[in-house]
Amino acid sequence: MLIKTPKNFSLKDSDVTDESIYRERRSLLKQMGFLGAGALMSSAIAKNASAGFFSADADTVFQTTGLDYSKDTLNQGLLKTPEQKVITHNNFYEFGSKKNQPVELAQSFKVDPWQLKISGECDNPITLDHDDLTRLFPLEERIYRLRCVEAWSMVIPWIGFPLASLLKKVAPNSRAKYVAFETLYDPKQMPGQENRRLGGGIKYPYVEGLRIDEAMNPLTLMSVGLYGKTLPPQNGAPIRLVVPWKYGFKSIKSIVGIKLLEQQPPTTWKKLAPREYGFYANVNPNHDHPRWSQASERRISSGGLFARNRIATLPFNGYGEEVADLYQGMNLSKHY
Ligand code: MTE
Repeated sequence: MLIKTPKNFSLKDSDVTDESIYRERRSLLKQMGFLGAGALMSSAIAKNASAGFFSADADTVFQTTGLDYSKDTLNQGLLKTPEQKVITHNNFYEFGSKKNQPVELAQSFKVDPWQLKISGECDNPITLDHDDLTRLFPLEERIYRLRCVEAWSMVIPWIGFPLASLLKKVAPNSRAKYVAFETLYDPKQMPGQENRRLGGGIKYPYVEGLRIDEAMNPLTLMSVGLYGKTLPPQNGAPIRLVVPWKYGFKSIKSIVGIKLLEQQPPTTWKKLAPREYGFYANVNPNHDHPRWSQASERRISSGGLFARNRIATLPFNGYGEEVADLYQGMNLSKHY
């Protein structure tokens, strides 16, 4: 985001190491620093993701579990970004500002026990624990495009439940105009929260927000999984937001707090650089970011290094039919 991304950010297929070579080199690499071992781990994860299991290094690789959910019947035709790319090319600054750092540094992240508190302007505040997250509401698959403001995009089969279901449960009152979200603050587990260089200069905890009507929109998802399994930590375990018509930075990860508010809440990237990042952050090909044209995007797909996968960016990331009404009469270049 604020830090320039390298021109060639996608994973090279050669990053995926054969398991026998991996095992042979492991003891040698153990003597290297944490990051050296981490790079090896991301290779192992990438390999096992494509094979559909994580057994290569069960003692150090975070364990995901299968979920029961209903299939997305509308979007099976979308070409999905391969799972190993989804889980190894991440933005999660609490674990480092480089794309490969979250998978390297997040594998020992603890998600159970977990508490998610929903409070503020509502009649029935509640606190959910780890098991509630996957058991309280029926889980559905949602195959969505994810568009990062850095001009790359993916197609990800998320598993989750509508944020609206959760909000209805706490019964917002008439003063509830906005919804604020907060990521866990735990610098012992999330080294970027204390180390300014690693964490990109962000003041933690990471916070985000939506207007209440955006939060209640049926597209807005609380995600607990992807590709049929619980979320890996680098993608925001155990629960994150997914707002597919907004730039990816709105989709806050590893949430511990949701608060209904009367006033618009502060949001992380807007606090850091208000001229670059707004509260709304709706995907808008006609409003460029100072450093990245938003007219087109690079779709991270199964193609190799030289695959031609630059595509035009669509207003609201292609979800205009479902959400454009929310912004009737607003100047979206002013409210970026
Ligand atoms: N949430 C937290 N807590 N910290 C972050 O750094 N990065 C955001 C968003 N959520 C971020 C976050 C950004 S910039 C993007 S593009 C998406 O997560 C990336 O999600 P992914 O890594 O699952 O693709």
